[in-house]
Amino acid sequence: MALENLRAQYEALPYPERDPADEGTRLITGSPSNLWELNHYVFGGARDWTKGFRALIAGGGTGDAAIMLAQQLADADIDGSVCHLDLSSASQDIARARAKKRNLTNIEFRQASLLDIGPSDGEYDYIDCCGVLHHLDDPSAGFAALSALLADNGGIGLMVYGELGRTGVYHIQDALKSICPEGEPITDRLAAARKLIGALPQTNWLVRNPFVTDHLNGTDAGLFDLLLHSQDRAYLVSELATLIDSAGLRVTSFIEPGRYRPEFYLNDPTLIDRAKAQAPIEQAALAELIAGNMNVHILYAVKSANTIELPDPMRKDAIPVLRDMLPEDGVKAVSNGHFAGRINGLDIRLPMPALAKAIIRQCDGTNNLETIYEAVHALRPDIDWPGFSRQFLNLYDALNGINRLLLKFPTD
Ligand SMILES: C[S@@+](CC[C@H](N)C(=O)[O-])C[C@H]1O[C@@H](n2cnc3c(N)ncnc32)[C@H](O)[C@@H]1O
Repeated sequence: MALENLRAQYEALPYPERDPADEGTRLITGSPSNLWELNHYVFGGARDWTKGFRALIAGGGTGDAAIMLAQQLADADIDGSVCHLDLSSASQDIARARAKKRNLTNIEFRQASLLDIGPSDGEYDYIDCCGVLHHLDDPSAGFAALSALLADNGGIGLMVYGELGRTGVYHIQDALKSICPEGEPITDRLAAARKLIGALPQTNWLVRNPFVTDHLNGTDAGLFDLLLHSQDRAYLVSELATLIDSAGLRVTSFIEPGRYRPEFYLNDPTLIDRAKAQAPIEQAALAELIAGNMNVHILYAVKSANTIELPDPMRKDAIPVLRDMLPEDGVKAVSNGHFAGRINGLDIRLPMPALAKAIIRQCDGTNNLETIYEAVHALRPDIDWPGFSRQFLNLYDALNGINRLLLKFPTD
């Protein structure tokens, strides 16, 4: 019954609202499932794409992840296939129209529950499940089902709601359940939600929470998904870690990695030392408590037995890949020795090494570190490889921490 309610909601209100005509003017990118991001966090930067690639987008909705990944595979001339799986035919119709508009031929569509497809359907090298598992009656069954579909060396990109950053959402969900319960017509419930939001005093936690905005973007689907959903829950890092562990998976990284490290927020060396003495997952849980703004958790996970390691930024053959910025944008973003930005309401100002601009200028996604070093050395003969490498490591720690810099390796 719970699954039937979910299906009915997304048949009536496919989410997020997308217009296939917009595919002519922009590609929506995000996390998880950016191709170079998943290569970094699932395959240690060294996926051999000549071996084929099977991806499953579980609960693909109106198509954001499927379209992004399929387009990136096509652009990189990678022979891969993307399966868009969803309960809702209305959502899939939109995703299908978006793919058609882009002439993408590497997506197949399947209307089914992720709980119902089994290993007999073949293993997947990568599974995206973004904004879905927290809607299931039994999320742990969803984690287990996805884990069972994964190839031994494959990985999962996941997004579930974060509890602290959604403060206030469940107060209003409960208020609406009492004023205009499930079972009343959708239009009445949407109208009640709009009236209630309009009347909320400035003391209300949702009003005071700047991290959730779906109820303010004007779309019925966004409003319903946030405040009238038939079923959703949010997780603390510690709860999520338990679920992942029981599904036989381990986290390779949260996104953005830096936000899940306590030292991202702390200055005091004693506090930093104490935080760093904890296991990585405990550090992530601590960072969540300190930050307060995590309304979603995005992470990559692989099977517990998979020993893959994150890419080594000291290797000369590592190729830095800037994420969502061209080298010239990266160079411009460095000013007065810092890289400034804003992540989910948090102003950041990251110290940059002296060579930051010279290095970023060379990060075109094809140059490896040896080539970049040679270009820098030609301008600055006093800089040797160890000195360059130390500065690159500082740059990498900062920019990878905010998900602006990834690494890949040649595989042939
Ligand atoms: C909040 S939307 C997210 C869509 C998409 N992943 C995104 O991030 O844009 C949730 C989607 O999951 C689908 N869904 C929910 N439960 C599912 C299940 N058990 N199997 C397959 N799809 C499911 C819904 O139909 C809906 O399209």
